Amino acid sequence: MRSGIFSSGAVKFFLFVFPLIFYPYSFYSRNRYNIAPLAHTPKLLFLHSFEPANSDHDHSMKTLPDGYHARALNPLESSAFAGMTYPRHRAALLAPQDSKSSVAVGVYLDSQPLALALASVDRATHAAELLSLFCQASHRKRGLGTALLVSLEEELKKRGCVCLSCVWSSGAAGAAALDRILQRCGWSPPQERMLLCTADEEIMKAPFFHPPIYDRIERAFANAQIFPWVEIPDDDRHSIDRRQNDSPWIPADLVPSLHEENIEPLTSVGVRIDGEVVGWMLTHRLSPLVIRYTCSFIRRDYALRGGIIMLYRQVIWRQSDQLPGGTSGIWTVPLKHRQMAEFVRRRMAPYLKSFAVTRGSARQL
Ligand SMILES: CC(C)(COP(=O)(O)OP(=O)(O)OC[C@H]1O[C@@H](n2cnc3c(N)ncnc32)[C@H](O)[C@@H]1OP(=O)(O)O)[C@@H](O)C(=O)NCCC(=O)NCCS
Repeated sequence: MRSGIFSSGAVKFFLFVFPLIFYPYSFYSRNRYNIAPLAHTPKLLFLHSFEPANSDHDHSMKTLPDGYHARALNPLESSAFAGMTYPRHRAALLAPQDSKSSVAVGVYLDSQPLALALASVDRATHAAELLSLFCQASHRKRGLGTALLVSLEEELKKRGCVCLSCVWSSGAAGAAALDRILQRCGWSPPQERMLLCTADEEIMKAPFFHPPIYDRIERAFANAQIFPWVEIPDDDRHSIDRRQNDSPWIPADLVPSLHEENIEPLTSVGVRIDGEVVGWMLTHRLSPLVIRYTCSFIRRDYALRGGIIMLYRQVIWRQSDQLPGGTSGIWTVPLKHRQMAEFVRRRMAPYLKSFAVTRGSARQL
């Protein structure tokens, strides 16, 4: 097996692991897909389409303009606000009040519902997360969004919450307004968190999937056996565990057993070299047309030879060959994987269907 083919900076992102990916459904599901929520998914604040409105409000105001009033909603009142958040958060909006796991504050003009702020609450840590902030387009830029967030913070504080955080996509339409509101309300300066990537067949035009780079990878993995993960024998599972126990070689969050539930059988693969399973790419089908690349990993020595590129190509090939046409692949790249994030930004982004960065902010209550 050859080594050193990836000494150039261009593809170093694949050197270690393509880290596990938990896809923030909301961002992608907004207009294109109606994706059912799954457990263990970091939430991404919903960004609704943004339409310009008036700008004649007092910028220093954090209270509602005359005529508007805000109040914490009970489940009966909440249903009138269901259209102001996304389907996956409706359960939180309509949750019984005594569940204490979500808090919704609505703004009315007379009896007309106009704006909604929704947060989930972790009852163990008393930390809250802003899920949704929405104001009807014709009432924007009058201070409602800001006053609503302040009302939500007060409500959460009353209920014993100690902090409120949120994550949103910087490319989304309402991001600039949200940035401004958070700044005015004293939230921490937004920090970039992860890259959000969607790919279709265009990704196959990326140079690293072509000669001379890919030829070298193919030669390096000439004796690799790719197999469907659903067919992994028990012996291989035991061997993975035994080697992990003897000398950990898999980052804790990339252990395959963590991600096996409901995997997509045709596009989830393992790679066996010299009789040992040394890598995998596990995927999940989020909707008929969306495959999430949930967890990918290959042992470090093989990663150095471009093994992850080889795995990705295998999965993309299976996706286009065995699944109905037009599926997209989605994944995220935490920015702590700096080389990889750099690679995605510089080398992959031109071939992606969409590319965005999530940002996060928080404040103590
Ligand atoms: C975000 C949203 C709730 C803000 O509501 P709002 O009532 O207009 O908010 P406010 O009037 O309190 O303040 C908005 C601030 O953002 C600024 N702003 C609004 N649109 C902006 C834009 N396109 N670019 C930059 N700043 C913008 C306003 O000027 C104002 O700041 P200022 O007081 O310093 O002038 C509303 O725009 C909305 O519902 N958008 C769609 C949903 C969404 O994107 N939600 C955000 C995350 S869930």
